[in-house]
Amino acid sequence: MFGLLKKKKQLASSAIDYNNLPEHIGIIMDGNGRWAKKRGLPRSAGHSMGARVLEQITRAAGNIGIKYLTVYAFSTENWSRPDDEVKALMKLIGEYLDDYRRIIGDEDMRVRFIGSKNGLTDDIIRKMHVVEEATKDNKSITLNIALNYGGRDEIVNAVRSVAQKVSDGELNVSDISEKLLSEHMYTHYMPDPDFIIRPSGEQRLSNFLLWQSAYSEFWYSNINWPDFTRADLERAIVDYQSRNRRFGGV
Ligand code: FPP
Repeated sequence: MFGLLKKKKQLASSAIDYNNLPEHIGIIMDGNGRWAKKRGLPRSAGHSMGARVLEQITRAAGNIGIKYLTVYAFSTENWSRPDDEVKALMKLIGEYLDDYRRIIGDEDMRVRFIGSKNGLTDDIIRKMHVVEEATKDNKSITLNIALNYGGRDEIVNAVRSVAQKVSDGELNVSDISEKLLSEHMYTHYMPDPDFIIRPSGEQRLSNFLLWQSAYSEFWYSNINWPDFTRADLERAIVDYQSRNRRFGGV
């Protein structure tokens, strides 16, 4: 009897409160390499499975009612990985972009990219543009793919752009504010992430959304990204809903 009551409570406590959803979730899709290694597969197999999980989780997030999902696909530091892994990742991302119609399906999903274009091939840049254009009027969920993204790199670019405007006489030094800098970040069109999820057991930000995560809540878990499911996403959201966000107040 007690066991049954306990079970009921667990089920009840795992229900999402749809009136208190995080508007913007960031995900560091980590653990692909370890997932593959455990199975005796090449690291690229982990990334391929990770791309499939990304499709499922994007769909689930849209379905739950999340408005913005930002995923870390390739960082400015990931170029230092072995050449064959970088090539495999770029190939996978290219294939994902080619396949965007199937991936989006009936979803009202907008896809955008944040990050630097430096170092990306013309072919990838063209595909990114095609997908952004084709989905620009979709409204339910925005999937932001952080590709060749680094938080420090983003801040440096924003500062450069503001400094150029000051130098050109378009702005005064006294115009520089948090709001103005936010408007010069790649993420200028969306709210800061309420919630950042990092699977695979690592507990660090790894240069992801540095400026924007000032007041983000974090959720870590030992699950590797290729094993991450909708149930894990729901569990994470329920945990988020138990937090008391104070933004520096009391
Ligand atoms: C980190 O895991 C993951 C990456 C650097 C790549 C993430 C990319 C994908 C999930 C798929 C491709 C993306 C798109 C948009 C199609 P890791 O390789 O560092 O794992 P490890 O820490 O276990 O070695």
